Amino acid sequence: MKLRIAVPVLLLLVLTLVFSTFGQRNVGGNMRGGRGGARVESLPQGNSDAEKKILAVVDEAQKSGAMFENAPVADARMLRLLTESTDAKNVVELGTSTGLSGLWFCMALQKTGGKLTTFEYDAGRAATARKHFTKAGVDQLVTVVDGDAHKTISRLKDPIDILFIDADKEGYVDYLNRLLPLVRPGGLIIAHNDSMAPDYQKLVTSNPALETLPYREGGGMLITLKKH
Ligand SMILES: C[S@@+](CC[C@H](N)C(=O)[O-])C[C@H]1O[C@@H](n2cnc3c(N)ncnc32)[C@H](O)[C@@H]1O
Repeated sequence: MKLRIAVPVLLLLVLTLVFSTFGQRNVGGNMRGGRGGARVESLPQGNSDAEKKILAVVDEAQKSGAMFENAPVADARMLRLLTESTDAKNVVELGTSTGLSGLWFCMALQKTGGKLTTFEYDAGRAATARKHFTKAGVDQLVTVVDGDAHKTISRLKDPIDILFIDADKEGYVDYLNRLLPLVRPGGLIIAHNDSMAPDYQKLVTSNPALETLPYREGGGMLITLKKH
């Protein structure tokens, strides 16, 4: 009697396991990063020599370890996608590190005819970033500003299409308050690792002039639209 109950229950358990595994694999193909597959974390194929040159520098930096807290590929791919799809011309980045996210921005900017201004206070990382930009053939598109961004951002005057905040987490609110007036209506503010900046999260989600959505692949980002 006990066996008659146990066998179907066991069968049901096995079937549930098989179908749930199969189902997960097929949610979004294998594009889901970290959970069902790894494609979102791998480098895409370049469609031109210029794009392949940038991807080669990203690949080499990853392999050689010329990295410091760089945005995971899943996030960087989204940065490129947002920049190219919005035809952004003026991108500002706070926190250059060794220039990896900058390279992804450049992949889009070389198509949109835009430029990147990026801020970094660690001289060694700024030097590595400059080397990466030169090697990738995009140094003409990038200005690396040395020093404390809380001081140096005062030099920014032009309307910003995309503001990427990825420096000191306790500084996110200051960066937003000071640069929001420069972000053009319809422009984007993207805050990386926003879970480490709860005050920033509160600020952007409570301002009716802004529309904010989370991106939860990689390190996580809050993507905010400055409404018209
Ligand atoms: C998370 S890393 C940036 C990663 C980079 N955006 C990437 O994805 O390749 C943060 C960088 O911000 C820099 N940083 C932190 N506070 C800063 C400040 N007040 N001014 C300028 N740079 C700062 C750090 O030195 C560090 O290199």
